[in-house]
Amino acid sequence: MAARPPKKAILAGVNRKGFLGLAVTALVMTPLGAIAQNWRAAPGSLRLKAPARTWDAVEFSYSDGARSFPGIAVRLPEASGGGLCAVCSICPHMGCLFRYETDYEDIGSVIGLRLQHPVFHCACHGSTYDPLRIDNVIHGPTPRRPWLFTAHEEAGDIVVTGIEAGAGEIG
Ligand code: FES
Repeated sequence: MAARPPKKAILAGVNRKGFLGLAVTALVMTPLGAIAQNWRAAPGSLRLKAPARTWDAVEFSYSDGARSFPGIAVRLPEASGGGLCAVCSICPHMGCLFRYETDYEDIGSVIGLRLQHPVFHCACHGSTYDPLRIDNVIHGPTPRRPWLFTAHEEAGDIVVTGIEAGAGEIG
């Protein structure tokens, strides 16, 4: 009959190995678990400082997980209801990136209209969009208004949570 090792040695070896394994698992898994929970808490959302003053704007890039979309959010005047206008800056005409233009009188002289406030303007073929009445295209060959983001304000931030279906699909 083979000699058995002393009971104390077996217990010490198993416990030490088991303890080290548990300790390493705990050290690795705790931070990863916390990160995974944070990611799950807000999938596909983006948070950034909202523009504070009327007609101020902020540019951003939003990813829905499959694709990134360039965006512009503009602070609208209180007299017109306030809030933010958050649009994807891909021009629906042929896909150029349009810009937010505060030199609206210059843009007005280019497109032959007397504008009263800042606009979104595409330099490629002149499509011009109105942040105040985003459903109405001011000028140009574009077939539709810009695509809109789903967004809300929270403690001075803008939280972008989605984008309109079909965004960026040209033609
Ligand atoms: S791509 Fe913007 S007006 Fe043509």
